[in-house]
Amino acid sequence: MAESVRVKSFDLVSQDISEVDVDLLHALSLGVGWPHRPADWNFLRRVGQGIVAVDGIGRVFGSAMWFPHGSDFATVGLVITTPRAQAHGAGRWLMEQVMQRCEGRNLSLNATKAAYPLYVSLGFDTEASVFMHEAVVSGVSEPTIANGVLSDFPAARVEEIFAFDAKAFGRDRSRQLAMLAEISTSCILLRDGKIAGYAMRHDFGRGQVIGPIVAQDDQDAIALAAWHMRRFEGNHVRVDTREKDGPFAQFLLECGLSVSDTVTTMSKGRRFLNRTEGTPWVYGLASHALS
Ligand SMILES: CC(C)(COP(=O)(O)OP(=O)(O)OC[C@H]1O[C@@H](n2cnc3c(N)ncnc32)[C@H](O)[C@@H]1OP(=O)(O)O)[C@@H](O)C(=O)NCCC(=O)NCCS
Repeated sequence: MAESVRVKSFDLVSQDISEVDVDLLHALSLGVGWPHRPADWNFLRRVGQGIVAVDGIGRVFGSAMWFPHGSDFATVGLVITTPRAQAHGAGRWLMEQVMQRCEGRNLSLNATKAAYPLYVSLGFDTEASVFMHEAVVSGVSEPTIANGVLSDFPAARVEEIFAFDAKAFGRDRSRQLAMLAEISTSCILLRDGKIAGYAMRHDFGRGQVIGPIVAQDDQDAIALAAWHMRRFEGNHVRVDTREKDGPFAQFLLECGLSVSDTVTTMSKGRRFLNRTEGTPWVYGLASHALS
């Protein structure tokens, strides 16, 4: 693997993402129109690992991160090349380094349209579309729950959802959930004393993201999302979901959350998504990077 890459007239080397000033990362994501705030970058740097491509005087031209979930799986995200350096090989170089550092792990990511051909050429397979719903929320009605109790869920009790979540996510992501819970407002749905769903809401970009939303079915997912939306009316909310249609997607549209973009869930190695009848499902993603 090459230790450096020549992009236009710049010689770039990779550096650990934890070593660079967060303002440089913020400028990088702003440059490609992404909403991440410095606080979002700092959170993601605490959760995962990454590299940046820098020139001889420390200017950041690109980034790529990976987020290990358990011992044999990682999600990849924050793959960015600054516009003036794009289409000169930096994106491929960054991804090759990520794949080398994640060797032995199955990988998944959510690809933008700009990055999709790159990931196909690196051997990633297409699994599903992710629909980014967002808007200022208003007029959300009181959720109706059949035989269930919906309530606040304090971060201190996050361990209680790990096993339930793993059935939906397909992997153990306890560490990520514990870190997300620290920065989130969360609710839980109990039915007959057992966990039937949960949803978190945290600051991100222009407002808040509701996610993960994990539930047994559409109606429970709607109730969990509505619990959050009612508490955040008048503010900008984003929900990333793989539900193309059906009651949950319809509910988001009825709350005014139209689809502003779509990305593609892809994987390399073992297939990532495995929806099974009767088991919980991830209705709302934690984020594109964490999936
Ligand atoms: C996606 C992105 C990271 C690619 O970075 P890059 O430095 O331009 O990538 P590379 O120059 O290594 O190109 C990689 C591949 O992308 C494709 N590609 C890049 N620029 C292209 C262009 N202008 N037109 C068509 N294809 C292009 C090619 O398939 C290329 O393959 P090749 O090596 O066989 O030529 C960059 O465009 C970017 O930051 N976009 C905005 C943020 C984003 O969408 N990130 C992806 C998150 S999943």
